[in-house]
Amino acid sequence: MANLLIVDDEAQIRLMLSQMLTAKGHQCTCAADPDEARSLLKGASFDLILCDINMPGENGMSLMRDILPRYPDTAAIMVTGIDDHVVAEQFFDLGVYGYLTKPIDRTRVLIAVANALRRHELERINREYQAGLESLVAQRTEALREMVQTKHRTLVGMVHAIAAIVENRDPYTAGHQRRVAELGRAMAVKLKMTAIEIEGIFMGGLIHDVGKIAIPSEILSKPGRLDPIEFELIKRHTTAGYEIVKDTAFDWPIADIVHQHHEKMDGSGYPRQLVGADLSPAVRIICVADVVEAMASHRPYRPALGIASALAEIDTHSGTKYDPDSVQACLALFKKDGYRLE
Ligand SMILES: [Fe+2]
Repeated sequence: MANLLIVDDEAQIRLMLSQMLTAKGHQCTCAADPDEARSLLKGASFDLILCDINMPGENGMSLMRDILPRYPDTAAIMVTGIDDHVVAEQFFDLGVYGYLTKPIDRTRVLIAVANALRRHELERINREYQAGLESLVAQRTEALREMVQTKHRTLVGMVHAIAAIVENRDPYTAGHQRRVAELGRAMAVKLKMTAIEIEGIFMGGLIHDVGKIAIPSEILSKPGRLDPIEFELIKRHTTAGYEIVKDTAFDWPIADIVHQHHEKMDGSGYPRQLVGADLSPAVRIICVADVVEAMASHRPYRPALGIASALAEIDTHSGTKYDPDSVQACLALFKKDGYRLE
């Protein structure tokens, strides 16, 4: 049934316990002192130790303190002449399951051994279950982490694919989205935003003009000034872009950036005349980055106005059209940090 180790300096006690328990079908090994017990423990695994307390040399307390933590699969019962509940409690605190006093009573020994083995088995099953559970949780967590990473990579790839489509169709905007994304990201870093917010601004910037694929290319690439009807058509790219991205569960506020990047803090923008309170920090940053990049670069209908006029524009309208924090971050980048548009 079980593999037992009996540790007692008295040969008669060892023999008595051994006979009693062998008769119950257990396999019994005897040790006359703690040293012998230790070497037996090294060579074999025991389900239960029945151990004396007072022995010549090392006592049972010191032996238990040493071996119980090292052999968690081995239970212990003390069999002793010391009838003292304080001593018994000290052993229970160490993790000993039973405390029997001599003279040895056969029935009490058999009951104590049976109980100790049953409890020990339950605890072993519980430990295995816990270990299994922990490894299952670790596996599932790893699988989930991989899924999240895969989804993230897919979304990043999707944003880059959309950007490539837009830039292929509209050569004049080629690079515009990327430069807005890079400037927006630098501004977000300057404003100490979180990593996911910074990434969101970059991703949103990369495709903020996606709606331009819905605008006739003759209008997009028309040299010279646009008439009011043409301008109204161009303005539709915000809503058209929103319709393209609104149902994709991006990790970032891309739909808002696409929809709102021409809104102004004072409600003078388009398409919905939102005001500052309606606009998230990500949108406010892209609004400023978009204006600065657009003014600084060449457009089909006008030559580049230059970075100085772009910065003057946002500075003049800081707090009215443009978010002051975003303006400050942008001005600091260009004027103090030597930032340059690619
Ligand atoms: Fe735009």
